Amino acid sequence: MNLLAIESSCDDTAAAILVDGEVRSSIVASQDGIHHPYGGIVPELASRRHIQVITPTIERALAAADTSLDDLDAIAATNGPGLVGSLLVGLCAAKAIAFVRGLPFVGVNHLEGHILSVQLEQSVPFPYVALLVSGGHTGLYLAEELGRYRRLGSTRDDAAGEAFDKVAKLLGLGYPGGRVIDELAQRGDPTAIRFPRARLKGSRRHQAFDFSFSGIKTAVALYVREHGVEETEHADVAASFQEAVIDMLLDTTMTATRATAVDRLVIAGGVAANSRLRPRAQEAAADAGVEVIIPALRYCTDNAAMIGLAASHRLQRGESDPLTLNASATLELGTANDASPEQ
Ligand code: KG4
Ligand code: ZN
Repeated sequence: MNLLAIESSCDDTAAAILVDGEVRSSIVASQDGIHHPYGGIVPELASRRHIQVITPTIERALAAADTSLDDLDAIAATNGPGLVGSLLVGLCAAKAIAFVRGLPFVGVNHLEGHILSVQLEQSVPFPYVALLVSGGHTGLYLAEELGRYRRLGSTRDDAAGEAFDKVAKLLGLGYPGGRVIDELAQRGDPTAIRFPRARLKGSRRHQAFDFSFSGIKTAVALYVREHGVEETEHADVAASFQEAVIDMLLDTTMTATRATAVDRLVIAGGVAANSRLRPRAQEAAADAGVEVIIPALRYCTDNAAMIGLAASHRLQRGESDPLTLNASATLELGTANDASPEQ
């Protein structure tokens, strides 16, 4: 089965070709240069750029896989969650091709794509706990089997990547901030400043696996305002901030693996590219007897291959979606966990 998958939920335009679930090409057109001057994604500019590059990106994916529209058997696209103006571009392109060619169409939840992205390179047995850390989302899921996910917790405010981006903006480092902070932090002292670590407590009946990153962002802003950070101290601020975020992520994640008694942990999303998070996760997991699997960088960040993989499984089961399927900015994934905290 030849599948074209499209992803445009945020600021990357991506297309991939999968043949029987195997990736033949995966093209990502990044918009970083467009949003860099603004220190964050400008939704209007993102959707305009998607419109400009969607067709060339699909053509590149077809050419790289040495195939054409005539050879396709099915089309998939992300239909949420994300920026609705961005989602609509990829979704409409996918539905238009499916309609004209009379092909089955599948809408994919972006979060499922991230959770399954690790399966693009190796077969990871279910169940596993998935920590999804990106610019738009931060949450913990229990992947019980293909298509069955339990939401263990999520951020109550900012996503982890968003915190990286906002702190980078504060330090005048531009967008996207994660990679810049990561590089800068390598020259800094992670113990230089003790930023607060938010620990969300559950009730007596329910355990909390939620995150909060708005407090640390404010703490860094206050520190910078009070101390008037010099260029030379940026590295210490970056390293101390990064350490606090990693502590919070791993603390809650390891609590969740213990509570669910699952000994496999997958970390996905753009922040999984962090060079300090990777070894620290390995360390924390080894202590707890948990195996950690992190996808290659190209599959951590947004891509269409992961969308194609999620779609392939549904198509194999004979499922597809009607062309009336709409984009949803707030599409949720999985069932809520019984053990999630009371709101
Ligand atoms: O998964 P992704 O490409 O897009 C979303 O779905 O959001 O994640 C992008 C996020 C950005 O916030 C970016 O700053 C962050 O991932 N990021 C990093 C690193 N590389 C990218 N954060 C920390 N360390 C990195 N090395
Ligand atoms: Zn993403």
